[in-house]
Amino acid sequence: MAVMSRGQALFLWQSDAKTTMFRRLEPILDPIEVMVDGVPCEAEAGESVAAILLRSSSLPTRRSPVGHQPRAPYCMMGACFDCLVTIDGRSSQQSCLVRARHGMRIDRQNGMRSVV
Ligand code: FES
Repeated sequence: MAVMSRGQALFLWQSDAKTTMFRRLEPILDPIEVMVDGVPCEAEAGESVAAILLRSSSLPTRRSPVGHQPRAPYCMMGACFDCLVTIDGRSSQQSCLVRARHGMRIDRQNGMRSVV
C-alpha cells in the first residue's frame, strides 16, 4: 500500500482492490458530474481527468496505435503521454493536464487519434 500525491489528487493504492486500485482519501467538496464512456461519474471541480479515470476503473484509458497495447496515466505531469483520451470530441488530450468541468464527456481512445 502506498500514498501518492499529485497536485490536488491524493490516492491510496490498494493492491487487493477488486474493482479499482485507487480511491480518494478526502471527500469531494465541490461535486460535479462528468461522463466517462457514457457513464455518469462524480468528480471534484478542477481535479485532473486522469485522477477521475484512475479511480473510476476505466483502465486502460487508451490503446497504443501499434499493437493496441493497454495504456493508462503514469507520470501525472504531462511527460509520458500514456494518458491520452478524447475529451468533448477532441482526441489525444493529455488527461493528467486537463481539469474536470461539469458535463465534460471523456472517452477512452483506441489506436491513433482521428484526423478531422
Ligand atoms: S500521465 Fe503522463 S502525460 Fe499524462
